[in-house]
Amino acid sequence: MPPRGWLSRTFRQAIDKWFPSGRPGPDGAEWSRDRLVSLIKDRLAGMRVVVVANREPYIHNREGDHIRWIRPASGLVTALDPIMRTTGGVWVAHGSGSADRETSDERGRLPVPPGKPSYTLRRIWLSKEEETGYYYGFANRALWPLCHIAYTRPVFDAADWTEYARVNARFADAVLEEIEGGPAIVLVQDYHFALLPRLVKARRPDAIISHFWHIPWPHREAFRICPWAEEILDGLLGSDLLGFHVQLHCNNFLDTVDRLVESRVEYEHFSATRAGHQTNVRPFPISIDMEGISTNGLARSDLTAFKNSLGLPDDCAIALGVDRMDYTKGIPERLRAVARFLERYPEWRKRFLFLQMGAPSRTEIREYRELNEEIDGLAAHINAKYRSGDWTPVRILRAHHGAEDVFAGYRAASVCVVSSLHDGMNLVAKEFVAARDDRQGVLILSLFTGAAREMQDALLVNPYATDAFADALNTALTMAPEEQQRRMQRLRAQVAEHNIFRWAGLLLTETCRLAESTAQ
Ligand code: G6P
Repeated sequence: MPPRGWLSRTFRQAIDKWFPSGRPGPDGAEWSRDRLVSLIKDRLAGMRVVVVANREPYIHNREGDHIRWIRPASGLVTALDPIMRTTGGVWVAHGSGSADRETSDERGRLPVPPGKPSYTLRRIWLSKEEETGYYYGFANRALWPLCHIAYTRPVFDAADWTEYARVNARFADAVLEEIEGGPAIVLVQDYHFALLPRLVKARRPDAIISHFWHIPWPHREAFRICPWAEEILDGLLGSDLLGFHVQLHCNNFLDTVDRLVESRVEYEHFSATRAGHQTNVRPFPISIDMEGISTNGLARSDLTAFKNSLGLPDDCAIALGVDRMDYTKGIPERLRAVARFLERYPEWRKRFLFLQMGAPSRTEIREYRELNEEIDGLAAHINAKYRSGDWTPVRILRAHHGAEDVFAGYRAASVCVVSSLHDGMNLVAKEFVAARDDRQGVLILSLFTGAAREMQDALLVNPYATDAFADALNTALTMAPEEQQRRMQRLRAQVAEHNIFRWAGLLLTETCRLAESTAQ
């Protein structure tokens, strides 16, 4: 009999062959920071590189007399910061920190990373009204639930839409200012800026614009309920290149364009042409800097310290969740599975902890506040039912945890649980694997993440199927160390090869190819 996962691996190899963004690179070599740097030096010399993303990579906050900076909990920031350090361009973002103004110059610019500057952050100031309509409103109450199949109903409000359009235009002005007077590549990020590519292209047709949509693109029938579907598609079709994490989202996008706007869609080339301008649509699965992470190995004493800080004995097994507190992440489903697990496998009582490290997120939005209440209610219910002496089975740590704490958590955990109801990629799954250079630990991963397509050696679960999910927890906790090692080794090889430099390298190679063909 062929080994487990053989069929899916063979299939993946075939997919890698068919789709260029799945290949290692023209010379077959693996992607590294050095290779990305030489690509940038060779192909982008003399070009201005501008990233546009709503979230800034460094936020300055005032705490009493002190100013402290943080890195926000965002997969997008995790992925793009190393790229920006390499290209040394400009990152245009919303300045959202309470001390952001006093740490930037009069144009909102400052060198970053703090203390070791290698690129420029340009902060855009938004009024309360703009932030409410554009960010909390249209981006996060309309587009976010529209694109994720998590059964949270989108809210389409005309005033939010007006602010969204206005903010897109303001960011487009800043980009145009930054790229003035020279050849440029603009790397637009995510659902906050669907209109921006068209706005920039109209005034700078020579600028090469790539847009990466970090969240899923739903089926066309789901997308067409948006009253401004046509405007959004038209905005995105101002890009030269449009990227998604997986092929399915590329297919969904082209189907939506084909059905909703006047254009010529060519499935053979994966492109759409509207008003004479062609947009190429390709999958680029995002990832992490595996080497950068795994060299930060933690000592055994740090792990004991981590468990001690939680008041846990050394032999207590931890199942860990690390997420923004978002309804797409399936945290209530995870807690229901933990409850079922404790009911079905009583032998784990008193020697198991489910630990949720959760970064508070978008709490101005009602659906997020309700989610937090639901999570607290479920945790309290489980703890009340199973608590015994000092032992409580569930702990929710709500904070913006720094990378050190998160990595200590990854290393101390027996199991990492990623149970998204729908997720473009999910970098927590990849970070966990990168942190485990001891080749131990088991990843439980939702079938409905982009990551599940690449990480077949995880225990794949349907987060809605509570019984099977509970059984997966037991399977993970009782898995023999040799089996853990075999799986972890393969997962690590996968993430090491399909790293963030490959994502950026392939995306930039394709963008440069377009730049060169346009210049001819
Ligand atoms: C997702 C989105 C990002 C966003 C991140 C954090 O990963 O794709 O664009 O930055 O969530 O959310 P926030 O609203 O805090 O930026």
